[in-house]
Amino acid sequence: MTAERRPVHAAGIDRLTDAAGIGELVLPAPSCGPDQVLLRVDAVAVNHVDTFVRSGVYATDLDFPVAVGRDAVGTVEATGTGVRGVGVGQRAWTNSLGFDGRPGATAELVAVDAERLYPLPDGVDPLIAAAALHPCATAALAVGRHGQLEAGQTVYVAGGAGQVGSAAIVVAKARGARVLASASAADADYCRGLGADVVLDYHDADLAGRLREAAPRGLNVQVDTSGHNDLEMAVDLAARRGRIVVMAGPASTPVLPAGQLYMRDASVHGFAISNATVGELAEAAQTVNTLLADRAWEPRNLVRGAFRDAGWAHAQLEAGQVHGTRIVLLPQHGDATAGR
Ligand SMILES: NC(=O)c1ccc[n+]([C@@H]2O[C@H](COP(=O)([O-])OP(=O)(O)OC[C@H]3O[C@@H](n4cnc5c(N)ncnc54)[C@H](OP(=O)(O)O)[C@@H]3O)[C@@H](O)[C@H]2O)c1
Repeated sequence: MTAERRPVHAAGIDRLTDAAGIGELVLPAPSCGPDQVLLRVDAVAVNHVDTFVRSGVYATDLDFPVAVGRDAVGTVEATGTGVRGVGVGQRAWTNSLGFDGRPGATAELVAVDAERLYPLPDGVDPLIAAAALHPCATAALAVGRHGQLEAGQTVYVAGGAGQVGSAAIVVAKARGARVLASASAADADYCRGLGADVVLDYHDADLAGRLREAAPRGLNVQVDTSGHNDLEMAVDLAARRGRIVVMAGPASTPVLPAGQLYMRDASVHGFAISNATVGELAEAAQTVNTLLADRAWEPRNLVRGAFRDAGWAHAQLEAGQVHGTRIVLLPQHGDATAGR
């Protein structure tokens, strides 16, 4: 089935640039390849990684001019001849846009590889879904694919009140684990409400001692979403065969006590969701859809903007002014500057 071919309004860039360099774009109507769908975009998330792609901190293939953004929730408008199991009018989502040569999410209409498109569970608000995709998919990869967390094991989530950290608590509890989390004291109740069994103040000078008290047999999995990556502490606290997941702090250069690491068969696993395979993303998408359907994770605070607010949204993230807040952009939004 084909869609009307008129130009598409988007927010994006014509070169690697700062947040102020994001402008309004008018792009040619996307064509739908045989293994693609055309997605009419309803809501787009703004993530830290979008700023890394826009600035070049994360080097990837970009076909300029290109819309910014990777996560979109939308409505299928057309399907390629080879696509099965997806129907026109169906609500769906993707978290694979705007890098590796693919078009960006902040556009009215976008061509999406069908293998990177997932159905949105019935009754889920597209705005909530857009906000949830990145933290929940990242948490699924961190705890599941890379952490290999099993029921009955103990996991430590550093930064448990953050977007990814809060989702990681929920994912870990759903896997039947005992969850230790760190957060500032004001966020302790929030983490407990998500299911954390023990919440420690990350400002505590003896955080390592508290963790040892809480998990005398060691930590099976550790996920540091704060980017501090204290590997000396992490290795010291690791259980035999413990897995330390590194996923934040692009400039961090911690000391790794290699001797202690190998003596306990521990390992350090770095990952970036951008490198996830189609199969890994699909597996994470199943977890995301379960969380969405169960309303198990929702943003603490959601700010809406319009596509034209993309530059402002990137600047907010880069200024670190989004504590507990997810920014979601819509193609049209009359109250676009409400969040400023
Ligand atoms: N590798 C990947 O694929 C991937 C995917 C998504 C995100 N990320 C990265 O993951 C990081 C987290 O993203 P996010 O959206 O969850 O950010 P976020 O919402 O800002 O969460 C970070 C959390 O870390 C906490 N924190 C700060 N200092 C800490 C410390 N010393 N010890 C423990 N916690 C501390 C913060 O608490 P306060 O609020 O009290 O400061 C905050 O709750 C970002 O760096 C992002 O780029 C990586």
